[in-house]
Amino acid sequence: MKTSVVGAAPEGARDQDSAARAVREMFTSIAPRYDLLNHVLSFNVDRMWWRRTARTFRHILTRPKVRILDLCCGTGDMTFALRRQAGKPSAQILGADFSHAMLQRAAAKSAGAAQNGSTPNWIEADALHLPFPSGHFDLVTSAFGFRNLADYDAGLREIARMLRPGGECGILDFGEPKGAMGALYRIYFKQVLPRVGTVISGVRGPYAYLPASVERFPAPDEMLTRMKNAGFVEASWTPYTFGIAGLYRGKIT
Ligand SMILES: C[S@@+](CC[C@H](N)C(=O)[O-])C[C@H]1O[C@@H](n2cnc3c(N)ncnc32)[C@H](O)[C@@H]1O
Repeated sequence: MKTSVVGAAPEGARDQDSAARAVREMFTSIAPRYDLLNHVLSFNVDRMWWRRTARTFRHILTRPKVRILDLCCGTGDMTFALRRQAGKPSAQILGADFSHAMLQRAAAKSAGAAQNGSTPNWIEADALHLPFPSGHFDLVTSAFGFRNLADYDAGLREIARMLRPGGECGILDFGEPKGAMGALYRIYFKQVLPRVGTVISGVRGPYAYLPASVERFPAPDEMLTRMKNAGFVEASWTPYTFGIAGLYRGKIT
C-alpha cells in the first residue's frame, strides 16, 4: 500500500501549513451558522451518530477519574455527548480545536447547560501538536474533524502517543456509501448540500470542500492499515447509516 503523506488539501493549499491555515479559516468563517447547518444538512442524524459513538465508549466513560480528549471538537456536540454518557463528574473531558470561533460557541453552549454538575473544558490547540504528555488519556475521540488534518498519519501517531496503555481511540467521519443508496446520496452530497450550505452560511467554498474532502479521505481498508502502522491494535470500522458515516476504533497496548 502507498504510504506517502496524505491529508486534507483545500483548494489553493500548497503545503501542509497552508492547508491547515485554510481549514482553520474555513471553519472560523462558518462558525456562527455551523450548528444550524449541521442539523439541517444531516436531517438531525448527526445527533444520533454522536450519541452512538459516545455509547460505544461507555465502558471507558463510566470508569472513575478517566481522562478523555475530544479532538477537533468544533462547537462541542461530540464532547457533550461524551459528557452525558460519562455521567460522573469525576471524568475529565476536554475538547480541543484550533478555531477560536468554534471554541467560543462550544464554551457558550456549556455555560448554558451544566451537565451533571460538570462541563467539559476547552483548549485551543492543533491536533498535530498537542500540549499533553504521552500516555495521558484513556480515550481520544474525533468527530468529523480528523479528515481535515493536513497529515493523517501524523494525526494518528499523535493520538497514539497521548493514549495510555489500554487506551482507545474513536474516529467518527464521513464515508462513501455503495450501491443504489450511494448513488442517491452522492447526488445529495455533491449537488444539493454545497448549494444549501453556501446559501445558509453565506460563505462560498466550505460546502464544496466537504464532498471533496470525503472523496480524498482514505477508504476504510486503507485507514485501518494506517491505524495499525501508527501502533493501534484491534483496529475496526463500523458503518453508520449505510456507510454515510462510520466509526474507526483502535486500541493502544
Ligand atoms: C466538521 S468540524 C467538526 C466539529 C465537531 N467535532 C462536530 O462533530 O460537529 C471540524 C473541526 O475540526 C477542526 N480542525 C480541523 N483541523 C484541525 C487541527 N489540525 N487541529 C485542531 N482542530 C482542527 C476545525 O476547526 C473544526 O472545528
